Amino acid sequence: AMAGDVLAKERRDLRQSEAQDKAAEKASKVDLNAQWNDPMVAPEQRKFASDLRQARNDRGGEQMPEWKRITQGKDQSLGKRTNMSIKDQRESLPVYKFRKQFLEAVGENQLMIVVGDTGSGKTTQLTQYLAEGGFANDGMVGCTQPRRVAAMSVSQRVAEEVGCKLGEEVGYTIRFEDMTSPNTKIKYMTDGIMQREILLDPELSKYSVIMLDEAHERTIATDVLFGLLKKTLKRRPDLKLIVTSATLDAEKFSTYFNECPILSIPGRTYPVEIMYSREPESDYLDAALVTVMQIHLTEPIGDILLFLTGKEEIDTSCEILYERMKALGPSVPELLILPIYGALPSEVASRIFEPAPPGSRKVVIATNIAETSITIDGIYYVVDPGFVKQTAFDAKLGMDRLQVTPISQAQAKQRAGRAGRTGPGKCFRLYTEAAFQSEMLPTTIPEIQRQNLSNTILMLKAMGINDLLHFDFMDPPPTNTMLTALEELYALSALDDEGLLTRLGRQMADFPMEPGLAKTLITSVNLGCSDELLSIVAMISAVQTVFHRPKDKQQQADQKKAKFHDPHGDHLTLLNVYNAWKQSKFSTPWCFENFIQPRSMKRAADVRTQLVQIMDRHKHRVTSCGRNTDLVRRALCAGFFRNSARKDPAEGYKTLVEGTPVYMHPSSALFGKPAEHVVYHSLVETTKEYMHNVTAIEPKWLVEAAPTFFRVAGTEGLSRRKKAERIQPLHNRFAGEDDWRLSAQKRQGRG
Ligand code: CDP
Ligand code: MG
Repeated sequence: AMAGDVLAKERRDLRQSEAQDKAAEKASKVDLNAQWNDPMVAPEQRKFASDLRQARNDRGGEQMPEWKRITQGKDQSLGKRTNMSIKDQRESLPVYKFRKQFLEAVGENQLMIVVGDTGSGKTTQLTQYLAEGGFANDGMVGCTQPRRVAAMSVSQRVAEEVGCKLGEEVGYTIRFEDMTSPNTKIKYMTDGIMQREILLDPELSKYSVIMLDEAHERTIATDVLFGLLKKTLKRRPDLKLIVTSATLDAEKFSTYFNECPILSIPGRTYPVEIMYSREPESDYLDAALVTVMQIHLTEPIGDILLFLTGKEEIDTSCEILYERMKALGPSVPELLILPIYGALPSEVASRIFEPAPPGSRKVVIATNIAETSITIDGIYYVVDPGFVKQTAFDAKLGMDRLQVTPISQAQAKQRAGRAGRTGPGKCFRLYTEAAFQSEMLPTTIPEIQRQNLSNTILMLKAMGINDLLHFDFMDPPPTNTMLTALEELYALSALDDEGLLTRLGRQMADFPMEPGLAKTLITSVNLGCSDELLSIVAMISAVQTVFHRPKDKQQQADQKKAKFHDPHGDHLTLLNVYNAWKQSKFSTPWCFENFIQPRSMKRAADVRTQLVQIMDRHKHRVTSCGRNTDLVRRALCAGFFRNSARKDPAEGYKTLVEGTPVYMHPSSALFGKPAEHVVYHSLVETTKEYMHNVTAIEPKWLVEAAPTFFRVAGTEGLSRRKKAERIQPLHNRFAGEDDWRLSAQKRQGRG
């Protein structure tokens, strides 16, 4: 069937399933909430909270008066938490005093920089000032955010302030999710989306002003936008660009942006007392939780913000804290425990902004998202273990890897500052002062200097920018990183041997995902298994996992999951899940029965629909391979041949490319199975280097998929089977005097 037909049918089924869902959701509220491992939504905990209040009231509420007095006495500048009108709230923000000056400056300058502490109102107010000042009359005000959650939560807030429905005058766009309409005047979006929009329309003709927000975060996409927008401004004298930053490297920004004017907004901050650990902590997680409890039990009123590195850590900590609070019984004041990280759905995430009820305290446990992108009022205490999880390019593996690393001094200062927004605060650093001085870098290294660039380079090539070595980067990436990315794209046949974009490469750039997945998808069209790959790719790029594994029902969940297991591995297992869900007519009760997260499945289906649309645009046929799922595995080889590994006689696997030891993750369908050769989607380091989403393959498929990358080596005198197994990567292709890298580089230098 042509993609269009498939699409129409799936839309019908989805609509039907949504109706079913509404009913199911009503019937199973508890389960839906439990999805998110969020201790504070569970009903028994609500009871716990109100019991506590009740108990205190019964005792005559001895602690109540003081707590109440303080909470009410403090002016918390925004939100439902006060009786202030929206107008008063907006006018109480530091940025308000500069409204007129700001609008005048935008009128007079094409480019300007605004610097101001986090929480001063840049993100939520400046866009509104621009719209009020008439700058949205002939085009939209677009505002970029490095993080999806920020784009969603900020636009929600601004829609409230403007008094419209989200998606009308104020909206947002993130990957695979567009909440805008023809009426949209203020549009928040991730920086990645803005990049894609430039790819489609280099003039950005829909916009009159672009605000590159949170520029201090220096994400790759924002850094690339710096260079791209500088060019666009030259071609469009009527377009305005505002770059906002929370830190004071404004001079550097101004120098880069043609010495443009800087508007500084003085912060409104209180002193923060800094406490260091006396000895290095051996277990920062435990130290953090003990500190939170100590603050709660001994320090005066005020909310707590704890920085941890990721979802898993945060969820576990929420559970532990909840248990510890429960063990203390009802005699201690209530502690609301609220997680916040990128993958949290926005309804859950927005709860962190709600004030704790009088007499209680809240602790927000966050990733570094709460460092600058999100401001929570009422925080008096910050607990900072000093770590962050970030992706960094691992030269040994030849790919990006998520790693927990120490934060920079600038980040430590930023974190501490979060305690001084509502009044004088305290910051507990779970590291020694000596460690702060000697082990932390002064500032964070920009992403562009530490991450894989193949995505970015493919996009730039697709925009016709071939001379990457002379691209106007604020901080150019290391040449080696660029060359690695060029090699990778060449191996994927996205670039030809002159380093120029191929037709395939151009098509790959249209899929908003890593090049390997795009290549797999396009290859599947020729192999006749694109129907299958669409489902698999959608599931991989939409969500981290669709499997639900509650702590108290792990065995049951694992048994259900095993029913979907495909002997050839995880990709086909995902396909089995998708197809079974589709067979159930996208039913939510079916998801609950099978320990599948319905929300994740919905998202995957949504992503799939959008991928089908892109396929349609390219006239790619959607065809199914039926039972011949070998084709699916061959398509995966086309995109992921670099991520191939072979069983090691000693233990685990070794990657074919570098010979690095890697391991099968226990959650894999191939765990404990005798798969000799595999390809994997990604590596995740926990206690070991684990492969995630693994599929068994025939080694000859690698040679077939990437003849410029692999060859069959030393085959004389070997049996055919053995021959097929002697696959070696062609590293030499890139080494030596007459190096492809060098020649490609030279050509680019000329071109
Ligand atoms: O961008 P900047 O850090 O300068 O400030 P902002 O994000 O515009 O935040 C201004 C105020 O709006 C802060 O007091 C935030 O707490 C509040 N805010 C909110 O209540 N809800 C949101 N979703 C976002 C911001
Ligand atoms: Mg902001």
